[in-house]
Amino acid sequence: MNNKIEEIKNRAENEIKNCVDLKSLEDLKIKYLGRKGEVNQILRSLGDLSLEEKKIIGPRAQSLRNELDTLFEDKKNEFLSKKSRNSLDITRPGKKIKIGHLHPLTIVENDIIDIFKSMSFSVIDGGPEVETEYYNFDALNIPKNHPAREMHDTFWLQDNQKQLTRDTKQLTESRGSKVSGQKLLLRTHTSPMQIRYMETHKPPFQIIVPGRVFRYEATDASHEINFHQVECLMVGKDIGLSNFKYIVEQFYSRVFRKKLSVRLRPSYFPFVEPGLEIDIQCVKCEGKGCNVCKESGWLEVTGAGMVHPNVFRAAGYDPKEYQGFAFGAGVERIAMLKYNIPDIRMFYSGDLKFINQF
Ligand code: FA5
Repeated sequence: MNNKIEEIKNRAENEIKNCVDLKSLEDLKIKYLGRKGEVNQILRSLGDLSLEEKKIIGPRAQSLRNELDTLFEDKKNEFLSKKSRNSLDITRPGKKIKIGHLHPLTIVENDIIDIFKSMSFSVIDGGPEVETEYYNFDALNIPKNHPAREMHDTFWLQDNQKQLTRDTKQLTESRGSKVSGQKLLLRTHTSPMQIRYMETHKPPFQIIVPGRVFRYEATDASHEINFHQVECLMVGKDIGLSNFKYIVEQFYSRVFRKKLSVRLRPSYFPFVEPGLEIDIQCVKCEGKGCNVCKESGWLEVTGAGMVHPNVFRAAGYDPKEYQGFAFGAGVERIAMLKYNIPDIRMFYSGDLKFINQF
């Protein structure tokens, strides 16, 4: 009997040790210490033993019961404490979650959109980045062989027909004979959207069109081959330069969060007459002269002007009936001035040390 007790003890200890969860521990306890369990069976069989044997086996069986009871209790506590360790502890310090953030160009573009929206401009989405020669040049009063085409170094797309996707096919077919068989290019400015919008809308309207544009030129600290513009177009009856000056002044003062004066200088763009270059008071020195404005107190920011009659004609408007102004602002150049960024190429560098500052 002593051997049997020893065998039960070893087996039970082993099984308790290897037990994996509370449920199987409870089953094990019933197997050994339950009413019909192995230890009780020994205790019940004591009656069949001699008095001498009873004196030895009785206390031994009782102490086996106590020992196993303690082992079961300890194992149970071990499971319970493990469970509470794995559950939620609201007193533990939290882990900081890193969330993403907007790219500086998106921040500036969103800001520009908000400013124009607050002045009741509609925001027109995108337009095609693969554009036809007609919309990018011809309809904007820049016919073939016009010297102004050289102002825009262009990425022409080779072998049109092979490269046409379904979308660009629609693009070249949408205007029938006027644009079918047209050469395709990556648009060099957002001004083609002036024509696209006017073809399908009647004045009066005031819109902005943010978009991505491309120029085939050498990059340097202030020139990229891929950059963003926001085209602004306001057309109606009795729209004059004074309306234009007010809007531009409001726009730049609000982008840079300070009251800035604007200066208009004569310039040339074939799709406007008169053509203008817009200067704003230097955002750093506010006109006193500094390294940013090369001591002039002014910064050249935008090409602009009153919409040329030929552009109205190309869009199907009567130039005697309507007037309008347009300008095209460079988003990267605004962001560079706003955040004091010395090199335009940083925007596309993918350098997280730069990007994470915003
Ligand atoms: C134009 O693109 C005209 N479409 C603007 C316009 C619209 C004039 C409506 C009149 C009426 P321009 O080439 O100057 O103009 O470019 C406009 C702005 O785009 C510039 O003032 C500058 O801010 C930005 N820009 C031009 N080239 C680059 C370049 N390579 N990299 C970054 N920004 C550029």
